[in-house]
Formats: sequence, C-alpha cells, structure tokens
Amino acid sequence: MFLNPHFAELQENYLFATIANKVSAYTAAHPENKIIRMGIGDVTQPLVPAVIEAMHKAVDEMAKKETFHGYAPDHGYPFLREAIRGYYAQHGVEVSASEIFVGDGAKSDVGNIVDLFSDENTVLIPDPVYPVYVDTNVMAGRKISYLDATEENGFLAMPDENVHADIVYLCSPNNPTGAVYSREQLQTWVDYALANNAVILYDTAYEAFISDADLPHSIFEIPGAKKCAIEFCSFSKTAGFTGVRCGYTVICDELVSGGVQVNRLWARRQSTKFNGVNYITQRGAEAVFTEEGMKQVRGVIALYRKNAEVMVDTFREIGVWFTGGEHSPYIWHKVPDGMTSWEFFDYLLQKAEVVGTPGSGFGKNGEGYFRLTAFGTLENTAAAMERIKRLLRAR
Ligand code: MLT
Repeated sequence: MFLNPHFAELQENYLFATIANKVSAYTAAHPENKIIRMGIGDVTQPLVPAVIEAMHKAVDEMAKKETFHGYAPDHGYPFLREAIRGYYAQHGVEVSASEIFVGDGAKSDVGNIVDLFSDENTVLIPDPVYPVYVDTNVMAGRKISYLDATEENGFLAMPDENVHADIVYLCSPNNPTGAVYSREQLQTWVDYALANNAVILYDTAYEAFISDADLPHSIFEIPGAKKCAIEFCSFSKTAGFTGVRCGYTVICDELVSGGVQVNRLWARRQSTKFNGVNYITQRGAEAVFTEEGMKQVRGVIALYRKNAEVMVDTFREIGVWFTGGEHSPYIWHKVPDGMTSWEFFDYLLQKAEVVGTPGSGFGKNGEGYFRLTAFGTLENTAAAMERIKRLLRAR
C-alpha cells in the first residue's frame, strides 16, 4: 500500500494540537499553578436555556417509540433548514431551504468541500489564515498561491487582477485577525470570481460578532455572489456549540460549473460520506433562531464582547499595536520587538501563565503577531490582562 505522500508536506501537528501539547507539558510540570487559556477559540458560557429546553424535549422524544428518531436526513431536518432560511431572510438574503445543508460544523464542511473540486484548480488563500484551508488543500496535493494580508492592507487582502485563481478562500470576520470585509470589498471579490470563473469559499463562522449594521453577515448579500460563492457557517461561536457540533453550508442553485449544479455534488458527497447531525442537536440549533433563543445567544455574545473590550482597553493602555476585538472575539496584537510569535508564546506561558496562539501558526504573515481569544470568563480575561500588563510594562 502507498500512503498519501502529501501528508509529509504538512507540519507535524495541527496548530491547536501543538499548543495543547505544550500547555499539557507545562501544566504537568507546574500542577499547582493557574494557567489562563486564551488560545483556541473555545467558548466557556453554557448553552442558553432555550437550546437546553429544546434539547431536553428532544431527548424525551427519543425515549418513546412514537416519537423516536433514527437516521437524520443527510442534509438536515426540514425544521432546521427552514429556521436557517428565516435567519438569512432577516439579513435580506433569499435562499431556499434546499440550498442549505446542515452539517456538524464549519471545520468539517470547509475541510470536506475540497472533494468537489478537481486537482487542476489553483487555490488562492490569504495569509494569515485559519489553518484548515491550507492543510486540507496540502493533503489533496493542490497548488496553493498565497495572498498577503498585512498591517498595510488592514489584514484584508484584495484580488490582484493579474493573478488567476479557481478557488478563493475568504473568512470574514477574519480568523485570526478580526478584520471584516466591507460590502464594497466583497463586491470586488465577487466581480473577480465571476470574471475568473472562480468559486469563493466564504467562512462566516464569526458573523454573529458583527456589530455594525453596514457590514455584511453573508456573502450572499452581495449581488452576483450566488453564482460564485459557497458559504459556511456554524453554531459554535454563535450559540456555544463547539462541543455540540452543528453548522451549515449554503450552495445556491445558481452556482454551476460545466453545466453541473455544484450543490448536487455536495448533496451527493454528504449522502455518501455523512449520516447527518443528530435530532437532539438539530432541535437545539432550531431553538437558536426563536425570538427567545436569539435574545439569549445575543446576551452571551455581549458577555464575550465585554471581554474583548477589556482586552482592547488593556492593549491601548500599554500602547501595543492590535486589531480585532470589535466585530470579532479575537485580538490580534504585535509581539514585543525581537521576539518571534512562538518565542512570545513560551514567554507568556512561562512568565504570565497565559496561553495564546502564535500568529505564525496562521501563516508567514502572522509572524510577529499573536492572537488572544475573548471567549473566556470576564474574571479570567481581566486577570490575564493584568498579568500581560505587568509583563509587558516591565520590559
Ligand atoms: C480557532 O481557535 O481558531 C477556532 O476555535 C478553531 C475552530 O473553530 O476550529
């Protein structure tokens, strides 16, 4: 048997696995110390009451022969697809429930979507970026071109008319930098994709953090996007489902290549390789879109926003350059002069016992930067900021 040789081109570990290993080693050596984790963007607030209530009810249904559910429909229960459709409508986007595919999270769908495309494609990925986009294309042996996202362009890379691409990855609000594309900028990307016959793979997992009514929550708010984009979203950050697992991918009927409707391929792929999200989870996800559920998840997001404010105030106070934190749960800041991102990771872990994510883990343009998440508790966030303040002021 022959293994896929492209795995040898990957870093030995996935970014967040490397961080987890380092933190485990540190904790084992200092079991009595209190580490504050601001690395992986994992939520800390419990599921909201509306979701819990819906899930309890669904569990009870599973306990009775008359209301028990076996295999879920491969592409999602109609009640959840309809609820998601309604959410899009609130942002002025008309999609039909059949164009919405429920999955177990944006990470899986973003990773699995590569099955649909030929290996001939040229893939364009901004740098820095969520590592899943890169790793899944490396695994598939695809040629990747990178697009520089830097402080100069506000970490919002724009297309170069002279560079052709077939597949473009965009993430807005951006992970890791927190930068958000405006409507005009997204229109430029859509125009580029249409001109190049390319597809935009648009990750909007953090859309619930957008706090400016003028900023788009969905690429489908942009004219022409239905013909050239696939959108991924998730309940992880919107409703605290990181451990529950549920997300959705939207592929409109208008997205066609060589006469083939792309959503048919995705439907076929999912039916073959995926058995659907469980009933209990989908009932919980449906509850997010009720009036009460929405109010409650917005309340939780407001708590994370408060953390982000504390972080923003800290970095302003100590005069360290940063971006993000406004429409995103991440702060992306510069590391002290003369340190690499990983050196700062070790320094922060050892001297302040705070865990973050080194910018270089997201790509070469992330070198010299560091990402901190606002998904902790207010108490831990404030304590971590005090530790960081003391450490950086003493330098
Ligand atoms: C992150 O920290 O970048 C995210 O939590 C990772 C993910 O959503 O898979």
